[in-house]
Amino acid sequence: MNMTVDLCSWAANLARVQLEGLPRRWQHTQGVARQAERARAVVDDPDLLVAAAWLHDVGYAPRLVRTGVHALDGAVFLSELGAAQRLCGLVANHSCACVEARNHGLEIEWSDERTPLRDALWWADMTTTPSGGITDVSLRIDEVLDRYGPGHVVARSVAEASEGLIAAASRTERLLSGLAQV
Ligand SMILES: [Fe+2]
Repeated sequence: MNMTVDLCSWAANLARVQLEGLPRRWQHTQGVARQAERARAVVDDPDLLVAAAWLHDVGYAPRLVRTGVHALDGAVFLSELGAAQRLCGLVANHSCACVEARNHGLEIEWSDERTPLRDALWWADMTTTPSGGITDVSLRIDEVLDRYGPGHVVARSVAEASEGLIAAASRTERLLSGLAQV
């Protein structure tokens, strides 16, 4: 990574280069980054949150696909670029990716940090539609189930993960509403 470029700009540029050939993913990614910007005040490292939001889905880029679990493929790509291991771990584990990895017979080598920042990343992802609009976490889960259809490993994994996704999003929303009341 070029350390003279700030983390968020580096992440945004890298995501754009990798994802602009996938217009929906790129629109979604931009929406997730916008949501992450709204949660800056509730995390310990706001720039890291925004950078993770830009890069969370980078593993969907066709040239980066290895295992087919996009969270894992993205994290491996970032790690090979020399990105911070905390960023790799956030990408690897985002939105309960461990369930999908397990359903593919894979294990994620980075641990899930289970912090407000991790929750805020999941919240940003799960409250952003595929085209980058804002939605509600339950509607987003329904949309994924619908899009992939019953039996698909992504749909099965999201169904299995739904409780954890909703809990993470609720914790972030509680922190955000606490801010609004100050
Ligand atoms: Fe996403």
